[in-house]
Amino acid sequence: MGLEGVLIVTVDGPAGAGKTTAGRLLAERLGAYFLETGFVYRLLAFLASSWGWGPEMFRQRPDEVQERLEQAFRESPLQAWGDALDSEELAMRASLLARDPAVRGVALKIQRGLAQGHARIVAVGRDAGSVVFPNASPKFFLTANLQERARRRCEDLARKGAQEPELSILERMQVRDQQDMEREASPLMVPEGGVVVDTTTMSLEQVEELLYRKVQERFGSQRGS
Ligand code: C5P
Repeated sequence: MGLEGVLIVTVDGPAGAGKTTAGRLLAERLGAYFLETGFVYRLLAFLASSWGWGPEMFRQRPDEVQERLEQAFRESPLQAWGDALDSEELAMRASLLARDPAVRGVALKIQRGLAQGHARIVAVGRDAGSVVFPNASPKFFLTANLQERARRRCEDLARKGAQEPELSILERMQVRDQQDMEREASPLMVPEGGVVVDTTTMSLEQVEELLYRKVQERFGSQRGS
């Protein structure tokens, strides 16, 4: 994979647990590349529906799919998509597509390809610590109760100018979480050795501070060993 000697921290968890905000802040503080693995699934879902691809296309012609997607990523890097892929409706389509092992195989190559060449990486998602970067350390798993997660997501969307009622967000999240936890291929789970953090009553700055301290502790203890 070519990632020897690279500092990799992973942050997994269900929707709205604070992974993206806390992970991005942590990446800034560590001077690390920030990889949102879920964004890759959102973009795959978006492009697959624009191009009329179902999961069978990923199964039957993975190389062609890979090539076209990589080209799309080169032409419009992740940052260029801004908030365009933010809706819960697209997240649900991404979650449906992400159940397929052939789709996950393509996504995995893209995710690792994006991380290539960076000396420090903070990766957030559902299987960032269990599958994408199994050698990462430390690995975190953020959770929060469903009401709080829906409230955060609603606030986040409103800030970006998209209105979705909190109740419908909550219902969709519940279905999506269940789908993500129950699928056979790389389900949402606490990775081995993962540090579980319940963020329900914490601000996302407090979450980032806690993650940062744990990263410091880990590297402090490695220096001493
Ligand atoms: O993280 P985000 O909410 O953008 O992810 C959208 C969907 O992509 C998730 O609900 C999940 O089904 C899928 N996903 C995944 N593995 C990841 C990240 C996201 O299956 N590592």
